[in-house]
Amino acid sequence: MVKILKKTRIITILRYKTENLKHIAVAAAVIQKGGLVAFPTETVYGLGANALDATAVRSIFIVKGRQCDNPIIVHVADQKQLKKIVIDIPITAKKLIKKFWPGPLTLVLKKKKNVPKDVTAGLNTVAVRMPANRIALALIKKAGVPIAAPSANLSGRPSPTNAKHVLDDLNGKIDYIIDSGKTHIGVESTVLDLTTSPPTLLRPGAISKEQIEKVICEIAVHKVLDSNVLKSPGMKYKHYAPKAKIVFYKSEKMQLAAKELVKKGKKIAILRFNKHPKEIAKNLFAYLRNWDKKGIDIILCEPLDKIKKEGIGLAVVDRLKRAAGG
Ligand code: TXA
Ligand code: MG
Repeated sequence: MVKILKKTRIITILRYKTENLKHIAVAAAVIQKGGLVAFPTETVYGLGANALDATAVRSIFIVKGRQCDNPIIVHVADQKQLKKIVIDIPITAKKLIKKFWPGPLTLVLKKKKNVPKDVTAGLNTVAVRMPANRIALALIKKAGVPIAAPSANLSGRPSPTNAKHVLDDLNGKIDYIIDSGKTHIGVESTVLDLTTSPPTLLRPGAISKEQIEKVICEIAVHKVLDSNVLKSPGMKYKHYAPKAKIVFYKSEKMQLAAKELVKKGKKIAILRFNKHPKEIAKNLFAYLRNWDKKGIDIILCEPLDKIKKEGIGLAVVDRLKRAAGG
């Protein structure tokens, strides 16, 4: 158990404006001193520390309760910072960066020695992305160092898509939260390993396989259940686990099943997929968290084949499968 050690301060910046830079500077100074700052990105909130400070990075693992073999994504504000942490930038990376950065695409590249092994869980690669959020970019720039940041939730909980979610999990354990309201995308970035041939999609996100293949060659998709391959160690943990049990029901059987469960005294929630996948992605983690708070026992979920399996739909299906426990 981590004891409550700190007063977590909140900086509210709903829209990026230059007059807010002085507030961002306060948070950046905390990063420079080895502290922890939760900040918004376009995907989910991240829990940031100076990526080149091994002690600071270790404190991320402690407050999240994160397994130490699960590496962390490093966030950069420009290509200069990227060059400082990777050995070389292959042509595939250059093309993808040109097309998708800043944005929700994380690239796994060969790391330089200055990246502490705590960041990469001992791997010789580092995952890097440039977030498409002006507050995040200003924070990284002002800190003057790349920022290592996993999602700002306790391990095993859904990723936070607003500052309240971060507080619920980490209040008293981190120095600052920059509150910028709800994140745009709602699910974590696409993770693509460029050190394999062909490149491997390790985690689906808002940038789809098809979009990537339009820019580079055909890519492979990592088989999550292929347990002898631990390329992306994070994938083996049960993520996004709500306290409620998720049970799948055909749409026409849903109503009856719901009635029966309520009769038995169960608290239930119903998850239907009649919205566009983008809309589902945006709200999914908030729903899961709310249902936990309400003490829902069972989530009745429509079959996942109701979700269009293209674009961000694949990411939604991936997160729901894992929330349901595989
Ligand atoms: O959208 C996002 O990616 C958010 C925001 C904050 O940027 N971050 C995020 O971080 O989702 P996290 O730690 O929750 O997920 C990072 C994923 C994990 O599955 C981890 O195993 C993988 O990236 N990863 C990190 N470094 C890696 C590496 N060197 N090789 C392979 N996978 C890596
Ligand atoms: Mg996470």
